[in-house]
Formats: sequence, C-alpha cells, structure tokens
Amino acid sequence: MMQPRFILSSLGLSLMIATLSAHAAGLSSEHSAFGTTADGTAIDKYTLSNSHGVHASIITYGGVLQSLIVPDKNGKADDVVLGFDDVAGYQKNGTVYFGATIGRFGNRIAGGTFKLDGKSYQIPLNDGPNSLHGGSQGFDKRVWKAEPSKEKDWVGVTLTYVSADGEMGFPGKLETHVTYSLNEKNELRIKYSATTDKPTVLNLTNHSYFNLAGAGNGDILKQVATLHASHYTPVNATLIPTGEIAPVVGTPMDFLKPTAFGKNIKAVHPQLKFAEAKQGGYDFNWVLDTKGNVGKLAADVRDPESGRHLQLFTTEPGVQLYTGNFLDGTVVGKAGKVYPHWGAFTLETQHYPDAPNQPKFLSTRLDPGKVYTQTTVFKFL
Ligand code: BGC
Repeated sequence: MMQPRFILSSLGLSLMIATLSAHAAGLSSEHSAFGTTADGTAIDKYTLSNSHGVHASIITYGGVLQSLIVPDKNGKADDVVLGFDDVAGYQKNGTVYFGATIGRFGNRIAGGTFKLDGKSYQIPLNDGPNSLHGGSQGFDKRVWKAEPSKEKDWVGVTLTYVSADGEMGFPGKLETHVTYSLNEKNELRIKYSATTDKPTVLNLTNHSYFNLAGAGNGDILKQVATLHASHYTPVNATLIPTGEIAPVVGTPMDFLKPTAFGKNIKAVHPQLKFAEAKQGGYDFNWVLDTKGNVGKLAADVRDPESGRHLQLFTTEPGVQLYTGNFLDGTVVGKAGKVYPHWGAFTLETQHYPDAPNQPKFLSTRLDPGKVYTQTTVFKFL
C-alpha cells in the first residue's frame, strides 16, 4: 500500500511543479473544441495567455483570431476584436472576414485576372468586377491544421494549409504556415511563411477588426490614429489602385500626426466616397515610411476613454486601413452584440492591392525554391 501512495504523491508534486513553472514564465496555452463546420469538420480553438491578462484565441477555421482580451487603464478586460461565438457565424457571414487569415491574395485584383510569364490566370470575381481576398473560397474559408509552437519567451500556435495547384485559379501548389504568438510584453505576433512548386503571386494578411473600446461598444470615430505613411495608393470607383503613389499631405488620408478617425471621415473628397458612397469612409492602402523595417513603429491607435493603446510593426510595405464602412448594424456578433457602421478599424499589413497588374508596385511574385515570409506585431501598451 505504501508504494502506490508514494508514487501518486510524487506524481502530484511534479504536476504542481509543471503548473508553477508555467506560471513563473507567465505564459500559457489552452486547447479546446470550437464546434464543427456545416459539413461536420471539427474546429479547434487555441487560447494564448500571458500574466498581464491578455488572451488571444485562434480557431482552425479560416486561421481566424476569434477573440483578443485586453485590459483597459483600470484593469477591466474586454474583447477588442469583432467576431462570432460559433463556426456557423463565420460561415454565414463569409464576406466580412472578421479576424481571418487572408490568402492567397489580400485585397483586390482588377478583373480577377493577371499574367505571369505570358500566361493569363482568372480568379473568381467576388467583389463587383474584381476579385477580393483570394476569391470566393479564400484561406479565410479553409480549415487549417494546428500545432502548438515552442519558442523562448513566446507561447504560440502554428497553422498550416496546403492549397492545391489551381485552387481559386492561382498557379502552384502552395504550402503556408501562420504562427500566432504572444509574449509578456503584450505583443501578439503573426509570422507567415509559404513555398510554391510553380511561379505564383501571393499577398497574405490578417483581417482583424479592432475596436479599442471593446467589440460592439459603439463606433471608433473618437479613437486616435497615427500612420507613419507619407503616401497612399489612390483608387478608382471599384477600389482598384490607379497606379499613382500620392502624398497624403492636404488630404483626409493624412494621419502623420495623431488624428481621430472621425475628424475627416465625412469630408467631401472623392476617395472617401469611393470607399463608401453615402457617408464616406477609409478603405485604402497606405505606403508605410518604415519600408519593411519591423523594428520601427508603423502605426499607432489610442482610445482616450479606455486608455487602450495599440502599436503596429510589420515587414510589409503597406497597410490597408478599413473603417468598417460596410457594417450596417445587421451583423450580430459575439455575446449578441451588434456591430454598427464604422464599428471597427482594420490594419491589414500587405503588399499593395492589385500588385500583379501594377508594374510600379513592389512585386508579389513567389518562385519555387524561394520562401515567402511576413511578420506583423500588434502590441498593446
Ligand atoms: C476591403 C474592404 C472590404 C473589407 C471586408 C477590406 O480589406 O478593403 O473593401 O469591404 O475588406 O470585405
């Protein structure tokens, strides 16, 4: 009788030590079921936590950042990203892309078509005359494989998706890995890598809709943004870049100094009307002055009321700031909250939209033998 009891108690002790050392590091990761898709595929949720009360939940459907809990200046926690409580919410509202991993091609491709080495390719049109976010069944609608990732000072999860040659019209079998990681500095980092077996084009991003006052707690017009971007890429009426790289100075696109989203959103300016014909809005690509230096601050948003403060760092040359212009109070999200017009902002780090058709833009081509990488960090102060 003595021996089994001894074994049990030493097992208990070692379990306790494991828990304590996880606490000492301050970081932990939890894995649970998140329901099933309409065709019965099981979806998992991974929650990454640190000791400052930040919790990031990622689901294997769409590689979606489903929830991001961040304390405010008084320590009150709230979820700062829009989303749904179940898989059906994501499947029924496929065109909002809440929190999704976007691929193969973030933002628009004019006419859904491009040429590579003299051959034309056609992506399904899912945004008027253009293709958006990789066509009608992009990476946001795929089920990813997930595995916890291990790295000193970070807790993370790596998602993997293999896209078949010709999927959504894109050439090459493409293997993509996306690692979400959290550390004790309140940095949520997203690292992407991809390889192909044929020349192709690629532009990956994350489509989180942030509201620093908490998702579903009104609009973001009083939140104050700084974009370290002296230029942007003006668009035509279908939001395809004209090819010009224009200065922001003297336009409502000037966020070089801290400026509330609402300050100029209703200004009379043709670009704002292209983004949202009735009331105006932002939905443009800014050319970052950081030029791919992930060590430099690319953008900054503060909510004066809650005191939440978000900083953006990225290896990408551009960022799409979209102010939820198409939200109209009909989408019901987590905890039954309704997301109003201008109820969030996105910071989609990317190469410029329609790059495959724009000779003046940085190339989005990926060749066999090369590895595509991109890193973006959302840091909460
Ligand atoms: C696009 C918007 C679009 C939104 C949701 C953004 O990246 O730029 O025009 O409405 O995604 O689909």
